Amino acid sequence: MCGIVGYTGPKDAYPVIIKGLKRLEYRGYDSTGVALQNGSLKVYKKKGKVAELEESIVGKDLKGHTGIGHTRWATHGEPSDANAHPHQSASGKLAMIHNGIIENYTQLKQELINKGYQFKSETDTEVLLNFIEEIKKNNHCNLEEAVRIALKRVTGAYVILLLDAEEPETIIAARKGSPLVIGIGKGEHFLGSDASPMLEYTKEVVYVNDYELAIVKPDELILKNLGNEKITPYVQKLDIELAAIEKGGYDHFMLKEIFEQPQTIFDCLRGRLDTTGGKITMSGIQQYAGQIMNANRILMIACGTSWHAGLVAEYIFEELCRINVEVEYASEFRYRNPVINPGDVIIAISQSGETADTLVAIENAKNQGAIILGVVNVVGSSIARASHGGAYTHAGPEIGVASTKAFTAQLAVLTMIALKIAHEKQTIDQERYLHLLNELSEIPEKVAWVLKTKEKIQQLAEKYKDARDFLYLGRGYNFPVALEGALKLKEISYIHAEGYPAAEMKHGPIALVDEHLPVVVVATKDTYHHKVVSNIQEIKARKGKVIAVISEGDTDTAAMCDDVLIVPEADEIVAPMLSVVPLQLLAYYIGVAKGYDVDKPRNLAKSVTVE
Ligand code: G6P
Repeated sequence: MCGIVGYTGPKDAYPVIIKGLKRLEYRGYDSTGVALQNGSLKVYKKKGKVAELEESIVGKDLKGHTGIGHTRWATHGEPSDANAHPHQSASGKLAMIHNGIIENYTQLKQELINKGYQFKSETDTEVLLNFIEEIKKNNHCNLEEAVRIALKRVTGAYVILLLDAEEPETIIAARKGSPLVIGIGKGEHFLGSDASPMLEYTKEVVYVNDYELAIVKPDELILKNLGNEKITPYVQKLDIELAAIEKGGYDHFMLKEIFEQPQTIFDCLRGRLDTTGGKITMSGIQQYAGQIMNANRILMIACGTSWHAGLVAEYIFEELCRINVEVEYASEFRYRNPVINPGDVIIAISQSGETADTLVAIENAKNQGAIILGVVNVVGSSIARASHGGAYTHAGPEIGVASTKAFTAQLAVLTMIALKIAHEKQTIDQERYLHLLNELSEIPEKVAWVLKTKEKIQQLAEKYKDARDFLYLGRGYNFPVALEGALKLKEISYIHAEGYPAAEMKHGPIALVDEHLPVVVVATKDTYHHKVVSNIQEIKARKGKVIAVISEGDTDTAAMCDDVLIVPEADEIVAPMLSVVPLQLLAYYIGVAKGYDVDKPRNLAKSVTVE
C-alpha cells in the first residue's frame, strides 16, 4: 500500500506529481505529501486525500524540477500531518517517502535515540531516514552509498525515494518487496508505484527488482545491486492507453469497471477460446499441462476477492478435472509450515500481482519445489514475474478499490484452464466440453443483459440501504458468489454483511433472521436449485426479507421472494460470472445512496503490499 511518485527533468515537478498521486490514491489515502527541490527542500504534507493537500497549499512556493510525492495507507502511526510522508531528516537536508514496513525499526530507533536523535513522527520511515543520514555523516559518503549501507541492516519491505538538498537533480530509489516502476522520457525520468503516473509522458519503463538501487537524474538512469555493481536496465514497452485509467463519463471507477465487464471478459477469452475448433490456447498453461494433469492436488492461493475466485475454481476443477483442490488464504498459508509435496501445483490469483502475502506464500512454495502458475491482471507485476507460468486476465487497469471486473476475468481464465486440463485429461466428454466452450463464449453478452437491469437494482438499493445487517446465501458454485456479494457490500457501504453456504444457515445465522434482515439468496437454476428454494422458504417462515438472484423466467421462485435480481440462464459452471454482477451493482448503488466515496472506501487500499 501507499503510492509513491517521483519526477526529475525539465518540467515543473509539482503538477506531474499531484496528477500521479491522484492516480495512485487507490493504494491509500490517509495522508498526502510532496517534497520539491527549489533552492532548498520544500516539504508540504497533510492528513487526508490528495485534493485536500492541493487546496491547502495554493499560493505556496511549488516550483522545482525534481520532486517526490506520497499517498499513505497508515501502518505505523495514525493518519496525521506529522506521520504523513515525505519525512525530513534531522538536519533537514534529506527527504524520503516509503511504501512498506521496516520490521526492525524499533531497534534502529533505539540506536538513534541513544545518539541523541529525536523524532517528529511515529513512523518507521523517519527512523530509516535518520539511520541513512547518520551513516552518511559517519562515513562521509554520498547518499547513494549511505542508502546501500543502511539497507543491509534493514529487514522488512520497502520502496523508498530520497532527495538530498546537496544533489538537487537526483532521486535515489531502492526496492525490496514493494513495486517500483521508472518511466524513461527525453531528458526526464518518472517514478511510480505503478505506471499510471507516467502514461501520458512515456511508454518506456523499467520495473525495478528487489535489492536494486536506482540513481535517477534527468538524463541518466543507473541501476545497481546492493553490492554496488551496475545492472543493465531492462526497458519494456507499456501497452496501456491513458483512457483505460480515466473515468470516461462514469461517476465512479467502480461503476465504469462493472460496466466494462462484457468487454473485459471478451478480451480475456479472445484468442484463447475457439468454439468452432473446440480448442483453448493458453501458452503459459500448455507448458505445464502435464504437471497440472498429473498433480496430486492444486493449491489456489490468494486474498480477498481473488480468494473467492479461487473458491469457485475449486468447485470447477474438482468437477471437471477430478483433481483435489485446496484454497488457501495466502496470509495463513505462508506462516503455517504447510506440507508441499512433489507434484503440487500452485495457482496464485491476484489482480494487482503485488499482494505481499500472496507473493511471499508462492516464493516459499517455489523454494520447496512447487510449480507456480499466476492468474494475474497487472502485466509485469511481482507475482507474474515470480510465477513459472500462468495466464494474464487482461481486464485492464482496475482502479476502484472494490474489485469487480478483475473477479469475472479471473473466473473466465480459471474456467478456461480447468476446461483445457479436463479435455487433455479426458475427464470431460466431448459434448459437455463443446457445450461449456459455447456457454463461456456467451457470457459477455449475458453480462451486458444483466447490466441493462441497473435501474431496477438502483431502486432496490434505495429500499434496503438503511438495513443494519445483510446475510448472503448460496450453494455450490454460487456459495463463493454469496461471499463476494457480502464482501462488496461491506467494503463500500459499511453495512455489516455475512456470506454463508445456504445450508449452513441452520447452524447459526438463522437466529438473526427477522423482518428487519434482508437475506440475499443466490438462487439461479442449477443442480441444487430446489435445495436453495427450501432455504428461501425457511427464511420466509421467519419473516426475513428475501432478495433472490434468479434465472430469467423462474416465476416460481420469484413468487416466494420479496424482490428479485434476474440473470440469464447459464450452465452452473459459468453462472457465477453472471450472478455476481447484480450483487456488485447492488453494493455500488447502496454505497452511493448512503453518500460514501465508493472508489475510496475508508481504511481500505487496493494493493496490499504489507502483511
Ligand atoms: C485488497 C483489495 C481487494 C483484493 C485483495 C487482493 O484487499 O481491496 O479488492 O481482492 O486486496 O488483492 P489482489 O491484487 O491480490 O487480487
